[in-house]
Amino acid sequence: MAAVRLLQITDTHLMGDPAAAMRGVVTLESLRRVLRATRERIEDADALLLTGDVVHDDADGYAWIRAELGALRKPVLCIPGNHDDPELMRAGLAGEPFRHCGHHDFGGWRIVMLDSTVPGDVGGEVSAAELARLEATLGEGCPPHALIVLHHQPVPVGSPGLDGVGLRNGPALLDVLARSTTARALLCGHVHQESERRAGALPAFSTPSTCVQFMPGSAGFAFDTRGPGCRSLELQDDGGVVTRVLWAD
Ligand SMILES: [Fe+2]
Repeated sequence: MAAVRLLQITDTHLMGDPAAAMRGVVTLESLRRVLRATRERIEDADALLLTGDVVHDDADGYAWIRAELGALRKPVLCIPGNHDDPELMRAGLAGEPFRHCGHHDFGGWRIVMLDSTVPGDVGGEVSAAELARLEATLGEGCPPHALIVLHHQPVPVGSPGLDGVGLRNGPALLDVLARSTTARALLCGHVHQESERRAGALPAFSTPSTCVQFMPGSAGFAFDTRGPGCRSLELQDDGGVVTRVLWAD
């Protein structure tokens, strides 16, 4: 089987006003820069991953994602972030090519999309029901390899401010994954920076936002001057993950 190719787009923070900006960055234009810079990768991809904070507390922003990603003729696997309202996101991105949460099989891989949002909370948690679903999904009937995708970072990335609003029950998630014979890697958004950490025995990757980045290693919420980016992933037949961040510039 051929490798499974994915492109992760995260933390787009769109608003209804196409000229709306975060920290001086027009988020729609910034997303468009990323999409232009990765056009060939997108054409090669089996699916796109849209990993939360799709809008910045403004459900009118979903129409822009529909316009930009809906035209690419690729499945878009979606999970909400803390700035999304999960119900409004499902309504705003209803129908193909958008697929919300659940799991999706491509070749020898299962992509498990976890909802880690907690209403009214910047931090996240994977509910007991979601953990049970994960455990079942990784078991009987699962392809040989699985990638687990969620918005909040499952392990600290080394920025105390951001890690204070990460996944509160990371250890419970890692317990489930430690019992799994199919889990191969974790992938998140939320921290607006590139990182690769260990989560138990597995690699855990975070990815820059398509708009503003946070400064790695900062104690509070300092901003980085790096431009927009995204992440390509190649899920290999032997369970390996080859991945790198693609910067728009
Ligand atoms: Fe974000």
